[in-house]
Parts: sequence; structure tokens; C-alpha cells
Amino acid sequence: MQRLDKFLSEAGAASRKEIKTLIRQGRVTVDGRAASAPDQKIDEGTAVVCLDGAVVEGYRTVTILLYKPAGFVTSTDDPRDKTVMELIPERYRRLGVVPVGRLDKETEGLLLLTNDGGLNHRITAPRHGIRKTYYAEHAGTAGEADIAAFREGLTLRDGTVCLPAELRPLGEGKSEITVQEGKYHQVRRMMASRGLTVTYLRRETEGGLTLEDLAPGGVRELTGVDLSVLER
Ligand code: URA
Repeated sequence: MQRLDKFLSEAGAASRKEIKTLIRQGRVTVDGRAASAPDQKIDEGTAVVCLDGAVVEGYRTVTILLYKPAGFVTSTDDPRDKTVMELIPERYRRLGVVPVGRLDKETEGLLLLTNDGGLNHRITAPRHGIRKTYYAEHAGTAGEADIAAFREGLTLRDGTVCLPAELRPLGEGKSEITVQEGKYHQVRRMMASRGLTVTYLRRETEGGLTLEDLAPGGVRELTGVDLSVLER
């Protein structure tokens, strides 16, 4: 059992103070009957709570996968740029999802958002080494020496040492890159260290997850199966 005001505030419906007013105004119902007081006890597993006639979904942990288009920054709020949060349906924003790691403003592709702090930490912690694959278009063509340098662990122009990574040339000016960490501008800087300036970058996979049939700007909610594939 849970207090009604706690249920509503955790669900992102309104603040505790606003909830008091909403209940007094008769705008909140529990199982079809007007709620009596903010401290009314409800069974959060079965009660149907409505605000102005619309069902309020209770708090739950949720992880979503966004196909980030270029031009959006990976941030919850920004004074200048459009953020990825603008691409997320309101119901997920209310549940408090935040980006897991980041993609640069001009990078497209797979970006996870979650309100599960433990999951967020596990995915971003370098020691878990979740693999991420990128498709890149770039100046020049990658060759055997570049593949070997990636495999050994590159040293970037500022001296940063990277963990071993995979570079798979896909022909002139195109490559696929797999990394197991997420340093700032990592793929662009790795490629630049080999004289291969990236002009287009898209993240295709993270753990065992892919974009599947999403279009840029599309979102899908992950299932338990997806989450097990992610951390495998
Ligand atoms: N590497 C980059 O350079 N940019 C990204 O957005 C992700 C990885």
C-alpha cells in the first residue's frame, strides 16, 4: 500500500502541494471514486488512479532507445541547442529518464535513456566494457596499418591511450569501428590520429542492441529481453 500523494508525485503527475489542491477540487479519482485525502492509502499494483479522467501510470523503471538525429545535444537542458529530451515522449520525461553516456551533436544513432540509476552506471562504467559499433564516413581510406594500430590500442594526439578497438574498412572513405569505452569524441579522435577525418558518424549498436527498423527521431521502449542482450 502507498500514499496517494506519493504515488502521484513519483509518477510525475504534479508536485505534492499541487496534488493537495487537485484532490480538494475532486480532480483525482481512485477506482472511479473521488479521492478523499492526500494520505489515502492505495494498492499501487491494482488501483486505477485518474487525474482529470486520464489514467496516471505509476512510477516504474524504464529504458528507451532513441535513434538520435544530427543537430541535437545529449543533455537534459541546454541554453542554445535543441536537446535529445525534445525527441522523447512526455510520458518518459515525466518518469525521469536521462541519457546514458552521450553522442556528439552531429553524431546520429543509438542512444539509450533510462531512469534506472544502477543500469546507467553499469552501462557507462569503463570496466564493464560494453561494446559500441559505429559507421563512419571519412577522408582517406583505412588500411592494414590503421587496423593494426586500432587493435593495439591507439594513442590520441593529446597523449590519451585508448583500449584496443576494431577498425573494419568498408571501402573508400567508409569504415566500421567497435570500441569498448566512451571517451570524449572518441571515434572522431581515434580516426583523426590516423589522418582519417570523420565527416559522418552513426552509432549502430550498443551491447547486443541495434537500431532495428527505427527511423531518425524514433523511440522504442526496451523489454526485459533487450536489457539482457544489452549487458551480455
Ligand atoms: N565518438 C565520437 O567521436 N562521437 C560520438 O558521438 C560517439 C563516439
